[in-house]
Amino acid sequence: MGGKRLCGSVSVSGAKNAAVAAIPAALLVEGVCRIENVPDIKDVDAIVDIMKYLGAKVKRINGCILEINCEKINGFSVPYEMTKKMRASYYLAGALLGRFNHAQVPPPGGCCFGNRPIDMHIKGFEALGAKVSIDKGTIEAHAVSLKPAQVFLDVVSVGATINIMLAAVRANGLTVIENAAKEPHVVDVANFLNAMGANVRGAGTDTVKIKGVEKMAGGTYTLIPDQIEAGTFMIAAAATRGDVLVKNVIPKHLESISAKLAEMNAVVEEYDDSIRVTREGILHKANVKTMPYPGFPTDLQPQTVALLSLAQGTSIITESVWDNRFQYVDELRGLGAQISVDGKVAVVEGVEKLSGANVKATDLRAGAGLVIAALMAEGIPQMHDIYHIDRGYEGLELKLKSLGAQIVRKGDDKKRRQLM
Ligand code: EPU
Repeated sequence: MGGKRLCGSVSVSGAKNAAVAAIPAALLVEGVCRIENVPDIKDVDAIVDIMKYLGAKVKRINGCILEINCEKINGFSVPYEMTKKMRASYYLAGALLGRFNHAQVPPPGGCCFGNRPIDMHIKGFEALGAKVSIDKGTIEAHAVSLKPAQVFLDVVSVGATINIMLAAVRANGLTVIENAAKEPHVVDVANFLNAMGANVRGAGTDTVKIKGVEKMAGGTYTLIPDQIEAGTFMIAAAATRGDVLVKNVIPKHLESISAKLAEMNAVVEEYDDSIRVTREGILHKANVKTMPYPGFPTDLQPQTVALLSLAQGTSIITESVWDNRFQYVDELRGLGAQISVDGKVAVVEGVEKLSGANVKATDLRAGAGLVIAALMAEGIPQMHDIYHIDRGYEGLELKLKSLGAQIVRKGDDKKRRQLM
């Protein structure tokens, strides 16, 4: 049921997009990788299943620690039934190529925002000396031995930056990636690799340098908190005229969001590892353009559009990362929002109220946006296809309930309930 203020504190889980890269990266390590602060989400379950299929021994300790031993791996190919469950399965290509000079990886799944090319990943593998062929989406890459390379990315790509790092960490010599993505999870994966024995420098800048090492022996690493989960709670607090302390965050990673919420008339207070968001006055309109980090993250675009649907005035949202990331807007309209979309631009005319309806999550972040819209709405909105949300948010409805939201999950997910 919507209309409740969210109040209290909530703790953010480990970063999904770091976890789903660090786990396959363990394939490069011939020792035990202990990864801490791993979120309990379906995408992690899916990549762990693939690791086990490949022969890795994976132990989950206390829910959020994974111990992965990849000393004995059975092969370098994976069935499509497993890779199609998530986007990040494409990291298996870089990791298997880096470890065995050979990878065969069927197409990934995950959220669909139109065309999601991987030409930059391929460009990187080829520069490293691999022969790459693609048959019906399955990548096959092999090399006699990988050689160092200079790779200039034509587009800033998180996936290509990480995949090329994975392929290069054990290549003989110095690989340089120019125009690299600078997202916090790119830096986190580089730090993870270094903790396991790699030599990666410059992650978080435009130029990443990877000096190949012969062997990676393993170690312990704690993943950063999830920037997008944190941003989602910040937006939810502003949306409900709430007062929420979002704990276990890195405020630096949230600067673009904090600034935008302040522009909308929320009060944002930063502490060392938490952020408090409150709103009392009217929500102001704002224009938002999504950009690679440190710009405003595309993965918070649907949540922001939901928020702005109740702002005073007209807001313009420009999606500059993905071609087709406004598919969920019809669902928001079903709740009474007034939004028109022309290509990559959405114009949101603020309305007085949203009200209950049946909506469906069309993808992970759209699902989070619709939850925020439902929290603002009058009546009892019902949301379907919430499995998308479970792919990337750990216990979202339970965390929101702890802040005072009235949410009931119908249908059962006992495992997740028992964990909280
Ligand atoms: N691109 C290319 N060629 C490539 C790779 C990307 O043209 O070879 C283009 C894409 O079409 C897109 C842009 O470059 O227009 C950025 O794509 P990027 O490769 O950075 O995206 P990704 O690695 O596939 C990750 C996150 C997404 C997030 C984007 C952008 C993971 C597993 N996924 O995707 O997260 O939207 O970066 O920040 O890390 C999510 O978590 O919900 C999610 C979709």
